Amino acid sequence: MRRMLVAGNWKMNGSLESIKSLLDGLKSGLSRSEVKCDVVVCPSSVYLPTVSEQIVDSAIKLGSQNICDQDGGAYTGEIAGSMLAEFGCQYAIIGHSERRALYAESDELVAKRFAAARRGKLTPILCVGELLEEREAGQTEAVVSRQLDAVIALEGIDALADAIIAYEPVWAIGTGKTASPDQAQEVHAFIRKKLAALNSDVASNIVIQYGGSVNGANANELFAMEDIDGGLIGGAALKPDDFLAICQAAT
Ligand code: PGA
Repeated sequence: MRRMLVAGNWKMNGSLESIKSLLDGLKSGLSRSEVKCDVVVCPSSVYLPTVSEQIVDSAIKLGSQNICDQDGGAYTGEIAGSMLAEFGCQYAIIGHSERRALYAESDELVAKRFAAARRGKLTPILCVGELLEEREAGQTEAVVSRQLDAVIALEGIDALADAIIAYEPVWAIGTGKTASPDQAQEVHAFIRKKLAALNSDVASNIVIQYGGSVNGANANELFAMEDIDGGLIGGAALKPDDFLAICQAAT
C-alpha cells in the first residue's frame, strides 16, 4: 500500500517572518486535523536550519530544492547531501523543470544529483515532465521516458525503490492550468508500466506525485486517480489553508 505524500516546494520565496507564520499555520492546522499523508516542506536552503528547528515535534518533514552531484570540494554555490542531512533534510527535489530550463541541468546531471541524494541517504523526489510543445507534438511519453532512462542507466532500476517521482507537466507549473485528472493519470500509469517492465515491485510501490497548479479545489479529484499518490505543490504551498486542504485531500 503506497502512502500519499504532499510536498511543498517554496521555491525562492519567503522571509524569516513569513516562514514562521506559514509554519505556525501549518503546525496548528495539522495538529487539529486527521491528516494521514506524509507532509514535507522544501524551503530555500538558507532557511533550512530555522525550518528544521521549527518543525521539531511536528509531523512535517524537511526537504531541499536541489543537491550537488558531488560530495564536497571546490563547487562554489552548491550544497552537498551530507550538509543537507546535518540540517535534518530527508528529501531532495531533483531535476525540477525550473532547474532544467533556467539553469541548463541536463538529464545526465540530474541523474548524478539523484545518485548524490542516495549517497547522502536523502530520498530523491525526481521531477519529470514535458513542455507544452512536446505534448502537442505527441512526445510526452518519449520525454518522460528519456528523463527516467538517464537515472535508470546511471543508478539501475532498483535505486528507484528508495525514490519518489513527481510528474510535473511544465505547461501546468505556476500557470493555473492544471492537467486534468485523466491527463495526469494517463502519464502516471505510463510511468508505472514502464517501471514494471524492469521491476514490478518497484513499480507498484513507488510514490508518483503530480505537480502543476494543484490547489485546495482541484486536489481531491487529482488524488482520487489510481496512480496519483499525492502532489508536489508550488504556489499553494505558501498559503497554509490551501496547503492544509491539499494534505486533507491526500488523506
Ligand atoms: P505550482 O508549482 O504548484 O505553483 O504550479 C509546482 C512545482 O513547481 O513544483
